[in-house]
Amino acid sequence: MKVEFYKHNIGQRDIDNVVEVLNSLFLTTGEIVSEFEDRFSRYLGCGHNVGVTSCTAALHLSLLAYGIRPGDEVITTPMTFIATANAVLYTGAKPVFVDVEPETGNIDADLIEDAVTPKAKAILPVHLYGQMCDMRKIREIADKHNLAVIEDAAHAIEASRDGIRPGQLSDAACFSFYATKNITSGEGGAVSTNSEEIAEKLKKLRLHGMSKGAAERYSRRYEHWDMEMLGWKYNMSNIQAALLLNQLENIEKRWQRREQICQMYEEAFEEDSVVTCLKVLPNSKSGRHLFTIQVAPDKRDEVIKQLEERGIGVAVNFRAVHLLTFYRQTFGCKRGMYPMAEKIGDSTITLPLYPKLSNEEVQYVIKVVKEVTTN
Ligand SMILES: Cc1ncc(COP(=O)(O)O)c(C=O)c1O
Repeated sequence: MKVEFYKHNIGQRDIDNVVEVLNSLFLTTGEIVSEFEDRFSRYLGCGHNVGVTSCTAALHLSLLAYGIRPGDEVITTPMTFIATANAVLYTGAKPVFVDVEPETGNIDADLIEDAVTPKAKAILPVHLYGQMCDMRKIREIADKHNLAVIEDAAHAIEASRDGIRPGQLSDAACFSFYATKNITSGEGGAVSTNSEEIAEKLKKLRLHGMSKGAAERYSRRYEHWDMEMLGWKYNMSNIQAALLLNQLENIEKRWQRREQICQMYEEAFEEDSVVTCLKVLPNSKSGRHLFTIQVAPDKRDEVIKQLEERGIGVAVNFRAVHLLTFYRQTFGCKRGMYPMAEKIGDSTITLPLYPKLSNEEVQYVIKVVKEVTTN
């Protein structure tokens, strides 16, 4: 049997929506993007939304919108995709890592205060695999030290914790619509914020700092535009937005199927003496973006090899960021600095998880994982 690591869920309605845009006059940022932004805001229960080209762009612009600049420090986690820390570097600021909780892999909120220096300007928590960090505690620390909170919610569109959802307690939440994300436009992203002023700023920052977007420039008679600040070219197109509209409508249905699959995995490995899983806390709804298992670090790469040989697509999310060559060389990061993140990074394997995965395929993955880990 062959089990792909990921299969997307694009259906005929999504394709029809894109074709409609392709047959229209306007391909770039216009009405369809606005429609998606409005609907996404409503779904999240958060005031404003700004569509961009990736979560990396969303993170970069959010940091800029809150004034992060060279010399500043941003507190974040080493257990994430490099985009999180790289976005901090794009602003000229420095990522300051804080270790993670062993049972969730999320930034350990109890360790954050020790990392706050006079240079600290923001906290950038990542909701790992879909489970939210302790946003109440993080907000409290941020308020005490006058820091912005920008969430990396790339994995966590559907998530909530203690009834709080991404974007509701923070200053901005950043989402990804990358090819394997819970909803996808191939590449894409968005920022959610309750601040109208920041949303307006983000709309300028995503398009070179221009005072008018293309839709405003071309839907009326010509008017001069101005460049008010230095911005980037990160604007979401109508084509991307069209691909997302119908997926957003069905997002909870797809989440339910992923939840079912995760529960099958969790039950199967619950009593396993070799394979362990991270925990979803009782007060938490995980976005269930990725499902990972942990095995002994000295066996991990061999297990991956054997799973692949038996037709199962797997990945590693993530090797700890501070141990990657660039971060070692640039910041002198070393093994031993963030032991919990290192432990997860050394032992983690991501299993297939997507709504099209059949029960038979899930059972096959479970069977093969058990076989190759007990050999
Ligand atoms: C935690 C996290 N943050 C940020 C990103 C970056 O997302 P994008 O590819 O949309 O820039 C990813 C992508 O996988 C991610 O996993």
